[in-house]
Amino acid sequence: MSRHFAAIAYTPSVRASQRLHGGRDLGEGLEEISETPVVELGPRECEFIAARDSFYLATVSESSWPHVQHRGGQAGFLQVLDPTTLAFADLSGNRQYVSVGNLTKNDRAALILMDYPNRRRLKILGHVEMVELATPQECFLRGAVNPKLLAKMKFPESNVERIMLIRIAAFDWNCSRHITPRFTENEWQSRSSPLSATSITKE
Ligand SMILES: Cc1cc2nc3c(=O)[nH]c(=O)nc-3n(C[C@H](O)[C@H](O)[C@H](O)COP(=O)(O)O)c2cc1C
Repeated sequence: MSRHFAAIAYTPSVRASQRLHGGRDLGEGLEEISETPVVELGPRECEFIAARDSFYLATVSESSWPHVQHRGGQAGFLQVLDPTTLAFADLSGNRQYVSVGNLTKNDRAALILMDYPNRRRLKILGHVEMVELATPQECFLRGAVNPKLLAKMKFPESNVERIMLIRIAAFDWNCSRHITPRFTENEWQSRSSPLSATSITKE
């Protein structure tokens, strides 16, 4: 586990459980890491995120219940605005606003991003800033957040209610064990058609 991720995840009760069940405290030496670190994604993470067409978003309710919701869109809809900031357009949906309501009280979120064909997964912890808007132009007019950063955002055609900006607090890659390879229809077709146009042209 990365040191920043461990510094957040290894709370006193987690460390006590590590001592009790795992035989040793894995949190030693992490105290010097700030609670609000600036963590930069590298090229590997940026490339991975740009290829995703979905992720899972966990928030925390004011009664301390976790809530997990699925978000989906075109590949790359979760955008890397700079090495410390992700953003996605939150579309009008089921009108329940559970994630949104949770984030108004507690801006902490956890994301898990899956790449089933290559059996990879990336976990991200971050603070979410919500920018409410009726139109993309409105958020620039309000100037509520860093306009230069938001100007990098590519907006989907319609139904955008707000932009969610995620400031990265930590990320961690998990091992591939127990990830069953799964393929979308397109992925399956591109892997199983050896006589694609490019291979014919090259030969
Ligand atoms: C008509 C309709 C279209 C939706 N389109 C999307 C979509 O394109 N992408 C997405 O992640 N969720 C989509 N959703 C789901 C919701 O936007 C979103 O998951 C939900 O409103 C938020 O759930 P929560 O209250 O649990 O946070 C759609 C929901 C409905 C009813």
